[in-house]
Amino acid sequence: EKGGFDHFMLKEIHEQPKAYHDTMLGRISEDGRSVVLPELKISAEKLRGINRVHIVACGTAYHAGLVGKSIIENLVRIPVETDVASEYRYRSPIITPDTLVIVVSQSGETADTLAALREAQRNGAHVLAITNVVGSSVAREADDVIITLAGPEIAVASTKAYSSQLIAFYLFGLYWAQTNGTQDEATVANILAAMQALPEQVEKILAQAEVIKGVAESISKHDSLFFIGRGLDYAVAMEGSLKLKEISYIHSEAYPAGELKHGTLALIEEGIPVIALITQEGLYEKTLSNIKEVKARGADVLGIINEGHEAEVAKSTDRQFAIPRTLPLLTPALSVVPLQLLSYYASLALGHDVDKPRNLAKSVTVE
Ligand code: F6R
Repeated sequence: EKGGFDHFMLKEIHEQPKAYHDTMLGRISEDGRSVVLPELKISAEKLRGINRVHIVACGTAYHAGLVGKSIIENLVRIPVETDVASEYRYRSPIITPDTLVIVVSQSGETADTLAALREAQRNGAHVLAITNVVGSSVAREADDVIITLAGPEIAVASTKAYSSQLIAFYLFGLYWAQTNGTQDEATVANILAAMQALPEQVEKILAQAEVIKGVAESISKHDSLFFIGRGLDYAVAMEGSLKLKEISYIHSEAYPAGELKHGTLALIEEGIPVIALITQEGLYEKTLSNIKEVKARGADVLGIINEGHEAEVAKSTDRQFAIPRTLPLLTPALSVVPLQLLSYYASLALGHDVDKPRNLAKSVTVE
């Protein structure tokens, strides 16, 4: 049942190329120039009238929602807020009939997410669900549903569901951009072509898992570490940090790289591991200088970098892991993979139950 893998988590990490492929299947026109989402009921007219988006989710799905915010703001230029579901209802969010609320949930059964969905509908918002489970409560109650086709996720720690949620956001963001005319056809086609290369690029990353295994073993000897990055790299850093905490029980913190100097640098001591993501081209120089700040204080830095930057980043990092080249907006679909492997191998090195970590259920049905 684990298909030759030692754990479901490792199997599911390896299923991501297929999950990406399946989630895109039938949703890109044959000429590769546009997104087709026939399952959506929302009319083009209604979509064009939306002026505010709330993305609401918990845990890993919330982290996918942080990437979703960048995708929609970038492609559609409509303001997006991403909220943790257990916070959303209690802050009196401004919800109007022109608000689109997107709930993200692997299981479709998370109590807080479901409650947020109902609250949004009570206020007249149109609710779009991104979920992996057909027929789940969230899928049944939402006004619109985009199903991720990641296949069943058995390991409690979510991997392929998260990354397939990113694919769903890319598709929906492009669909909306087409509808509103905020991106030209060539731009959409260019992004779609880059998306279709992702499965093969993930395969390339998986083939280098041994490099990450080595780093994970050294990390497993520490009590605390940092994940840093800027922009989308920060969103992915948050997911990497959660994954590590969930299954290895090692404390870690995700920090926006530019924010370290506002206090947290005090915790960067000799030998502390820092996982630094530096995949956003526009933020490259700034992030590199932040990496130099932690390096100068003796941190042991693993750089998650773009292919081609090896020589330049080598001076400021102890080890590097290069991801294949893609568009800046798409890097999360690649950069999360080494972080998933890192938490898997750290948990393994510590002898923990990788697939069934303590204090976490696959679906959290209490508020
Ligand atoms: C992370 C994890 C949890 C879930 C969260 C939401 O690996 O498993 O953080 O992401 O409980 O679950 P869903 O997506 O089912 O709503």
